[in-house]
Amino acid sequence: MDRAKVQFFKNLSNQGLALTYDDVRLRTGQSNVSTVDISTQSLFSRNISLKVPVVSAAMDTVTTSSMAIAMAKIGGLGVIHAGLSTEDQRKEVRRVKLYLNGLIEKPVTVNQSQTIASVLEMCMLNGFDFRTFPVINDMGKLMGLLTQNDFDFSSNLSVTVKNAMTPLSHVISAPSGTTIKQAYDLMRKNKKKTLPLTDKNGVVGGLYILSDVIRITRDNPEQFNIDEHGRLRTSAAVPTDPDEAIERVNAMQDYLDVAVIDTAQGDSQYTFETLKRLKKAFPHIDIVVGNVSEAASAFALAKAGADGIKVGQGPGSICSTRPETGIGCPQVTAVFECSKAVEEFGIPVCADGGLSHPGDISIAIAAGAHSVMMGSMLAATKETPGEVVGLDDGTMVKLYRGMGSPSALKDSAASRKRYGVSGTGKPLAEGVESYVPYKGSVVDVMDHYTKALRKSMSYCGAPNIETHREKTGFWRITNAGLRESHPHDVKVIK
Ligand code: XMP
Repeated sequence: MDRAKVQFFKNLSNQGLALTYDDVRLRTGQSNVSTVDISTQSLFSRNISLKVPVVSAAMDTVTTSSMAIAMAKIGGLGVIHAGLSTEDQRKEVRRVKLYLNGLIEKPVTVNQSQTIASVLEMCMLNGFDFRTFPVINDMGKLMGLLTQNDFDFSSNLSVTVKNAMTPLSHVISAPSGTTIKQAYDLMRKNKKKTLPLTDKNGVVGGLYILSDVIRITRDNPEQFNIDEHGRLRTSAAVPTDPDEAIERVNAMQDYLDVAVIDTAQGDSQYTFETLKRLKKAFPHIDIVVGNVSEAASAFALAKAGADGIKVGQGPGSICSTRPETGIGCPQVTAVFECSKAVEEFGIPVCADGGLSHPGDISIAIAAGAHSVMMGSMLAATKETPGEVVGLDDGTMVKLYRGMGSPSALKDSAASRKRYGVSGTGKPLAEGVESYVPYKGSVVDVMDHYTKALRKSMSYCGAPNIETHREKTGFWRITNAGLRESHPHDVKVIK
């Protein structure tokens, strides 16, 4: 890192001083790079990259699959929270991973000799809400297609599939290995909504459905954060309890890129044990660990094999850890100290919590973070769990609560574990519940944040995240400087 920047933080730490977002502004530099040419490519963990360095928080009012899908499609990442049962968390992660998977690799098939009644019974028993099935013979060979129309127009339910289906002569199919783009072109050309794939023996090997194909191909796939198979990147939080963490990652492993050991105090014996066991059992999955705010803690976790460190103890908008316990290093200094401490391990740092303006994303990165994790700045968007509620004054809001808030501690074992609740009586709450004004889609919100980050990096003359981390320097500001840093002495009307 730039010597002047290191010196800036060293001088402060010599005085025992730590800073947060509102204490600093970034130094501008010669700017020869336009916003469109700036690269926001970064890393969340050793092997998991980001096209936009923003990650949505592992909170039950922020990230389930809808948010994680939207974030990954924007180029970021969403960490599915752990306040779900193992099975539900697995389903959420799976939904994200398979979202772009226009190809249904193992479609449910029906045999031509079955009756329509038996197919309907199978749908009911398995909770299938779709009615499109490739029809096969006893050898597994494609014989036709059974679709909603065939159910609707069957004279009676005892009719066989063979007599109700659209026969092979009226179906188009394509060889296994057909790409989504080829599938789309074929379906359009032939005006067909379904495309079964078959191998050289005519055995069914996949299925494309037009609505899925359109949903995927109409977006801007260039921006998607995807793995080597073209599937969205996924992440999920796991508790520090080693047995439970192993159980959860084991259940999710086919769909999971990075697990986040999620606790309010990452520098604990349990976390180290969980980290070691997870790394041993799942070497193909990255493990990010947090949260910490001291250099020594970050260093120890990196040395123990963490693939990424999450920094932030008590800066969050909904946190009451600091007033309750008096602990915690202000976030900009915490991010700098932890990033510096793990530099030699070459693993990324995520600045978690405490951001309240788009400009804070750029400040966190200049302080050494490779990415930021945000709760409140992404909360109350269309993609977060929960309903939009109208308040008496007409404001539309959504609930956003701390994972250590009284209601979260009551509802969720994961929250109780995150905050180490033990003993009897009322647990110590370390978070609050809040309403956040409804913001619309996270796609528009993130578009704003990304534009602001690019603009900031352009002011600082940083063409990419690495340069911004290395070179961009800080001014420490006073209260007068902070006042000057926001619109002032005018009545804002827009
Ligand atoms: P922001 O500021 O983005 O913060 O809303 C989100 C981050 O805050 C952490 N978090 C909590 N911290 N008590 C805390 O001390 C809580 O109840 C709580 N809930 C979430 C978490 O790291 C999240 O990403």
